[in-house]
Amino acid sequence: MDRIFSGIQPTGDLHLGNYLGALRNWVALQHKYECIYCMVDMHAITVWQDPKELAASTREVTAGLIAAGLDPDHNVLFNQSAVPAHAELAWVFNCVARLGWLNRMTQFKEKAGKNKENASVGLYAYPNLMAADILVYKATHVPVGEDQKQHLELTRDIAQKFNNDYNQNFFPLTEPLIFGEATRVMSLRDGNNKMSKSDPSENSRINMTDGLDDISRKIRKAKTDPEPLPGDRKALESRPEAANLIDIYAALSDQSTADVCSKFEGAQFSSFKEELTELAISVLGPVGEEMARLVKDPGYLDSVLRTGAERAKAIANPILDDVYDIVGFLRP
Ligand code: AMP
Ligand code: TRP
Repeated sequence: MDRIFSGIQPTGDLHLGNYLGALRNWVALQHKYECIYCMVDMHAITVWQDPKELAASTREVTAGLIAAGLDPDHNVLFNQSAVPAHAELAWVFNCVARLGWLNRMTQFKEKAGKNKENASVGLYAYPNLMAADILVYKATHVPVGEDQKQHLELTRDIAQKFNNDYNQNFFPLTEPLIFGEATRVMSLRDGNNKMSKSDPSENSRINMTDGLDDISRKIRKAKTDPEPLPGDRKALESRPEAANLIDIYAALSDQSTADVCSKFEGAQFSSFKEELTELAISVLGPVGEEMARLVKDPGYLDSVLRTGAERAKAIANPILDDVYDIVGFLRP
């Protein structure tokens, strides 16, 4: 049977890129498949995290998932470190994946920056842990934003090498699910950079907890160009900021970008931005409010995570047992 797994790092604020690239799609899949969604706190510490903030963020992101529409009774929601099988399978994968494969990972190069020697070993081995997250459930499909595509290719390579090395047809070759009109939401300040939690400029992103004033200010200040909007999406190829705002509008209103282009053909950015602001507030406002309400009830969020971890273990542990048998680990 098809099984969905996806993860999100509990660091910083959830933003519009997370919402359109991931959360909304997770919600859309929840009644079609068995879905497992994970706050990947072990991935988070590949770069320094303040312990208090990490714990608070783990609850906050859990609240964000529920506020976005994920039903915690129907889906498995949990934090990664509560299910040790992830780390255990990751070790086996550290011994399956090749250094050459990890050396090609662009996200490591971006995150490590110029001072590679000073990056943590965890940041380098991160894709192996991500493969373990997915394969410890034998997940068949993984909904993510564009930026995770390369990691999913590596996950398939690891599954294939494990199957070949041990002469088994054990792990599935997992497929990415990348869909929607905004699979790569860009910064509002620079259309060539991805919207990200780590961008130092607050105005570069819309957070899911932003109120009306923040949302309207950020959209008003969003970088654009002097031309009016074109009627054809192709004409936006050399106008990354305009293309980004149109894609955001399309995704938030569940329309195609082509339809949005024809709707706003010839319009000035000032009037388009007013409509985009109204739309963003109507979609994100209720989610942000529900998130704020849930965050005030840590007892409830912890109970969701506790139940989720138990359900996750019940699926993962027997799969890990099989891996240990295949590898030849004695369990006396
Ligand atoms: P992260 O916040 O890096 O843990 O990402 C969580 C999920 O959000 C992943 O599926 C990412 O692919 C997705 N995501 C993060 N940033 C963006 C973005 N700017 N546009 C689209 N999807 C994104
Ligand atoms: N690497 C993902 C990100 O930064 C988060 C993640 C960790 C993930 N494990 C995963 C996503 C497994 C999908 C499946 O966004």
